[in-house]
Amino acid sequence: MKRIVIIAMSMLAIAIAGSTIHPFGRVTRAAGSDSPPMDPETAALIDRACASCHTERTVWPWYGYLAPVSWMLEKDVTEARARMNLSRWGRYTAAEQEVLLSAIGAAVRTGEMPPSRYQMLHPEAKLSPAERQHIYQWTKVENRRIRAGRPPSPVSLTAPRQ
Ligand code: HEC
Repeated sequence: MKRIVIIAMSMLAIAIAGSTIHPFGRVTRAAGSDSPPMDPETAALIDRACASCHTERTVWPWYGYLAPVSWMLEKDVTEARARMNLSRWGRYTAAEQEVLLSAIGAAVRTGEMPPSRYQMLHPEAKLSPAERQHIYQWTKVENRRIRAGRPPSPVSLTAPRQ
């Protein structure tokens, strides 16, 4: 019994010590946000299903503070933001935005994003087929707008017909 307590205490100490190091990068949370122009429904869907990894508004879960879970989450978020940071949208060139929008469209249509491991812990991040279609439509409208060089307007952001 005493031995189990000692082992448990050591494991906890290691987990706490480990959480102070960040082998895969430290995740910060920014107040401001420079996100792409979105209609409110798309914004709500992205917020629900993508924001924790692809924006700087990551909501850290209670189980995410101790190592090695903290490392896994930091790796995921660091990688996701490096690929596509929706809080720094203005820093991408128009060409990069077009490529990313197409990638978002593909990721939601194939169901590749959000990752299934994330959906298991975050059932609220699951997207229905209609919701996936909505995000996809937005990527198409937004891409067309960028290509035409039009400024964002509420009209250009309303869900289109094909
Ligand atoms: C649990 C964290 C997580 C969530 C939530 C998440 N992603 Fe990702 N995403 C990643 C990671 C990690 C990568 C990079 C590795 C990979 O492609 O699997 C990535 C890659 C991508 C890419 C590829 C970017 C490129 O370089 O082409 C796109 C697009 C993308 N995600 C879109 C989305 C969308 C849209 C959502 C919401 C519907 C979403 N992701 C939700 C973690 C996440």
